Amino acid sequence: MSALLEVRDLDKSFGGVQAVRGVSFDVREGEILGVIGPNGSGKSTLFNCILGQLAPNHGTVKVDGRDVTGLRPSQLNRLGVSRTFQLLQVFPKLTARENLIAAAQEHQGSRWARLFGARDAGLGPTADRMLEFFRLTSLAGEKAGNLSYGQQKLLDAAMAFMAGSRLVLLDEPAGGVNPTMLAGLRERLAEINRERGATFVVIEHNMEFVMALCTRLIVLAEGRIIAEGPPDAVRRDPTVIEAYLGH
Ligand SMILES: Nc1ncnc2c1ncn2[C@@H]1O[C@H](COP(=O)(O)OP(=O)(O)OP(=O)(O)O)[C@@H](O)[C@H]1O
Ligand SMILES: [Mg+2]
Repeated sequence: MSALLEVRDLDKSFGGVQAVRGVSFDVREGEILGVIGPNGSGKSTLFNCILGQLAPNHGTVKVDGRDVTGLRPSQLNRLGVSRTFQLLQVFPKLTARENLIAAAQEHQGSRWARLFGARDAGLGPTADRMLEFFRLTSLAGEKAGNLSYGQQKLLDAAMAFMAGSRLVLLDEPAGGVNPTMLAGLRERLAEINRERGATFVVIEHNMEFVMALCTRLIVLAEGRIIAEGPPDAVRRDPTVIEAYLGH
């Protein structure tokens, strides 16, 4: 069976900075792949090249064997691929529920929804189910800007799932989140993976989170993959330890 996501020989430079160099990997259906590596090693740039925010200088991205290199984010959303960003994407003046509805509309390619405030558009029941699943029901009517940082991160993750995506790429979902909320987020992601067979690629610096959640890791350093394998083996790999210490 072919991989759900196939990345081949991806390169991305910014002027003289080679942020991603010859990166190739596969993600199988149902996997939770962790992407780790020191600051500036190219993790977010890799996501940006996969999800159409940036055009790679070289290389291909395939979803279900179909070449999707260079497609726009909304086109990828329609193929069942979505993401979160390293920085929060919630709209502080919209309520938690409105944020979810706006996210679903954006997944469908309607930017106007975000600009002019979300009307329900039949997405209310899906938003309510998502709020319940992420244990955010009691905060449904609260403006996102009034939520704690951890609650906003949880809402941000929930927004990525509003399209019912099969493949979700999460850029530092645990960053700055307290341990209790973190355990909740991990459980939710594990549950979506287990029950809906959703596939994840997760960039994260929090090793405990990565070790508990991911089935396999790739490690980036200076834009290249320097190690790949089960979390336990990768953690003990001298090349990986060196990359972190040398940074
Ligand atoms: N838009 C951009 N323009 C110029 N340089 C960029 C741009 N985006 C990233 N870079 C550079 O590319 C390299 C990789 O950055 P990237 O953000 O992908 O790293 P990262 O692994 O996500 O880091 P972190 O863990 O800190 O989020 C860095 O040297 C960064 O300064
Ligand atoms: Mg990053």
